[in-house]
Amino acid sequence: NLKDNTIIIVLGASGDLAKKKTFPALFALFRQGFLPRDAKIVGYARTKMEKDDFEGRATSYIKGAAEDKEIANAVESFKLTLSYVAGSYEDGAAFDGLTKHLDEIEAKYQSKERNRIFYLALPPSVFIPVAKNIKEHCYNSKGGVNRIIIEKPFGKDLDSARELLNTVKQYWTEDETFRIDHYLGKEMVKNLLVLRFANVALGAAWDKNSISNVQITFKEPFGTEGRGGYFDEFGIIRDVLQNHLLQVLSVLTMERPVSFSAEDIRDEKVKVLRCIPPIERSDTLLGQYVAANGKPGYLDDTTVPPQSVCPTFAATTLWIHNPRWEGVPFVLKAGKALNESKVEVRIQFKEVTQGIFKDIARNELVIRIQPNEAVYLKLNSKTPGLHTRAIPTEMDLTYKRRFLETKIPEAYEALILDALRGDHSNFVRHDELDVAWKIFTPILHWIDGQSGPRPHPVQYPYGSRGPKELADFMAKYGYKRSDDA
Ligand code: BG6
Repeated sequence: NLKDNTIIIVLGASGDLAKKKTFPALFALFRQGFLPRDAKIVGYARTKMEKDDFEGRATSYIKGAAEDKEIANAVESFKLTLSYVAGSYEDGAAFDGLTKHLDEIEAKYQSKERNRIFYLALPPSVFIPVAKNIKEHCYNSKGGVNRIIIEKPFGKDLDSARELLNTVKQYWTEDETFRIDHYLGKEMVKNLLVLRFANVALGAAWDKNSISNVQITFKEPFGTEGRGGYFDEFGIIRDVLQNHLLQVLSVLTMERPVSFSAEDIRDEKVKVLRCIPPIERSDTLLGQYVAANGKPGYLDDTTVPPQSVCPTFAATTLWIHNPRWEGVPFVLKAGKALNESKVEVRIQFKEVTQGIFKDIARNELVIRIQPNEAVYLKLNSKTPGLHTRAIPTEMDLTYKRRFLETKIPEAYEALILDALRGDHSNFVRHDELDVAWKIFTPILHWIDGQSGPRPHPVQYPYGSRGPKELADFMAKYGYKRSDDA
């Protein structure tokens, strides 16, 4: 763990990701005393900015300062850690300016240790030059650590991802590299390890003998809203399924790791992912939202190319060929502009088919990742009274009720802290990424038109539950809809 002499350099400091996620997370860690003592935060971006302007932007998404004096004071102290350097991403000489600034901060250190943590909140187009330039111009080899934190998109398919990873590898070792998938920092995703391996009752039913089907669902109630340029190039599969939902799937289905170490955990994730063949077209449903309920359709977004067939919704079914999961369908589905905001895992157990109870509801275990974190198990229970009738009920662990005083950390807080501690458990290893791309590349090439005509997504209205074809698609995999799904 880094205790002293640490600078966190946020590259892309004037962008949206930095403003909305990185700086608020750094502030939360600062306020709770989790940043190394006297840590400094340096912003770097192309835009020329005065110190005040930068401080204003970096703190613009911190909540609560207007109502709470303690938070307002903490924001003022946080600003004292901030400074800013403007410069180009491509020009190596500009990075010498950054290094000069870092050297000035470090000149005051008492010991030789100098830790530099580079956080790249940047678009993919400048990813490689920045990784190269900071290695060549800002790397400190005089003692202490250098780390680089990077975020998706990591390429667009297997080949481009390999090229990107290999180029970054020329400059940064695997140990120095922290690839963020922010879903791995979410509280409920971290809870999967505990739910599965600290509970005999759940662990015993965690296989094809007890489970009929599993759904991992991501729903957002808003469309691309001006972000269409980026989105259209990637589509919902690259945006959400290939990374966030597949990561959840791997933790949900891996075998028990030998230990808590990052390598043991990631070995098991890679192992289970390798048992999944590339997705079949016939196991895929693609959708695109159209105007409804007073909201614009995807093609009405002026940043989207006319007649785009980019999917904003996808449901895909994955199969894991190993003894535990053979024959169990795992449906990953994600969509923009749907009726609600919800991310959940829904495990539907097989039904009771014999004996004294028939035609009763299946058990379901629902792990709600957001909003309003919860784990609930749907059980059949006797209706109280003088007759014996089974009705579906719930055992409900809603976090807000069970953990009243506990604040649930933001994913980025948890992940930045892990990176400061040098813990890779919740970061994506290079071989994990490789196998994730192997699963999705053929279907993506089909969607992109690289293996014939591009498929046309079915339409669904903005604000709906998704394409009307979804119900039949789900039924194909044995899913029986329950009332809260
Ligand atoms: C990002 C996607 O990775 O995740 C966005 O690019 C998506 O399109 C976002 O909205 C969802 O993250 P969260 O934490 O809000 O669920």
